[in-house]
This record gives sequence, C-alpha cells and structure tokens, in this order.
Amino acid sequence: MSRRLFIAGNWKMNKTVTEAIQLADALKRSCMDYASVDIAVAPTSLAIGAVSQRLQHTNIFVSAQHMHQAASGAYTGEISGEMIRSAGAEYVIIGHSERRSIFGETDNDVQQKIDSAFKTGLLPILCVGETLEERESGSAFSIVMNQLKVAMANLSPDQAAAVTIAYEPVWAIGTGKTATPDQAQQMHAEIRQWLLQNYPSFVAKQVRIQYGGSVKPHNAAILLSQPDVDGALVGGAALNSDSFTAIVKAAEDTNKV
Ligand code: PGA
Repeated sequence: MSRRLFIAGNWKMNKTVTEAIQLADALKRSCMDYASVDIAVAPTSLAIGAVSQRLQHTNIFVSAQHMHQAASGAYTGEISGEMIRSAGAEYVIIGHSERRSIFGETDNDVQQKIDSAFKTGLLPILCVGETLEERESGSAFSIVMNQLKVAMANLSPDQAAAVTIAYEPVWAIGTGKTATPDQAQQMHAEIRQWLLQNYPSFVAKQVRIQYGGSVKPHNAAILLSQPDVDGALVGGAALNSDSFTAIVKAAEDTNKV
C-alpha cells in the first residue's frame, strides 16, 4: 500500500482569526512528530492567510473550505482559486454537503470548481455522499458514483489521481452517527472500482479516499484500518487540538504506509 493517510480538519464557520491562529499554533506543536501522515486544516477564508503563515515550514497544509469557479469578477462575497493560492493554501474542499444543501451548489458547479482549482494550482478535496433517504431507498452507490462522474468529467488521468475524494454520508455529518467501518469500506471500495473502470489503473491506486462524518478519537482507528479508507475529513473534532491530534495519531499508528 503506497497511499499516505491524509487527515484534514474542516473548521467550518468557527473561530475568529485570533482563535484560528491559536489552534494552528497548538497543532504545529502537537502534530510535529507525525511524519507518516499528511495533515491539513481548513480555516474560514478570513483566516487562511494568517494560518498559512503560522504553518509555513511545518507538516500541516492549509485548505480553503470553498471557492468560486470564476477567476474574478462581480461575484459579491466570493473568493477565487488564485486568491486562495495567494493567501498561502494548497488545498480546497469542494462540494461539501453543506455547500450543496444550504447554498444550492449543483454537481455542475462542483465540476467547474474542480476544473478551476486545477487551473489555479489548488488540490481539490472533493466531497461526495448520500442522504439518509437515498441510503434507505438503496440508491447510495449510484448517487455517489454520479456525483463523481459529473465532478471529474473534465480531468486528465494525472489530475484525477491528484484529487482527494471525501466520502461523507450526509446522515453522519455532525450527527454523532458514524457509518460503520463496513459501510465506509464498502463505499470506498466501490469508489475505487469506479476509478479503475474509468481511468488508467495508476489512478485508482493513487487516489486517497477520506471518510467523513462524526470521526472522533474513539472511532478513528477502526475506520482508518479499513483497506480503502485513506484518511478522514473531520469537522467537530477538528476544532480542538487534543481531539484532532488524537485522530492524527490514530492514523500514524495504523501504519498502513
Ligand atoms: P463532523 O463533520 O466530523 O462534525 O461530522 C464532518 C464534515 O462535515 O466534514
């Protein structure tokens, strides 16, 4: 297995700039020794610059939570990939279910944002996942594969290999309900199979598939030990340095690399 585990913290709309700097400083110290894991944090857009500065020359990458697909223009309130890059981030989360359900982002928007991220040199963390209704009606797999198909439609194999996919069942986000390790593994294996069918085989081998949805220190190890779970996208537990670091440590300890 050659995929490095990737743990990313999505801070959502939490933390002032001062608080974000404090958390970044704490993580810089507590995560310093976990060299076999890739780590990223996604502060609010306002704090990307300050957090990136604090985390320069550390093992922690910075991500945006969202971007607009256009390069610039009359899009009040939005930020572009180039702006995110210039503030110091390397990654951008695209298609988070909160962006889809609360702010109406469609699969086509997600496709354009992914294309735009690559144009500006950002690495996308592409979120996919089904709602509870979709799971209960048996359409979870087809929903997720369709989200992937549209989002990744324009990518070259090299670009596809550089995408991190975050499988986040909507019913598990912020609810304290986690997918069972079997449910996560099944969907991740299905995603990898889809990659194998649609790209040259190196893509499926390389793409990292994170699980997201109520990942906590107590359930991280068992989820991360599944063969196709290559990391986690963490919300609530990423807001505190102890709990986030415990998840990073669980990744380091699974030693799958
Ligand atoms: P959660 O959020 O860990 O609080 O469930 C995960 C996410 O939305 O990425």
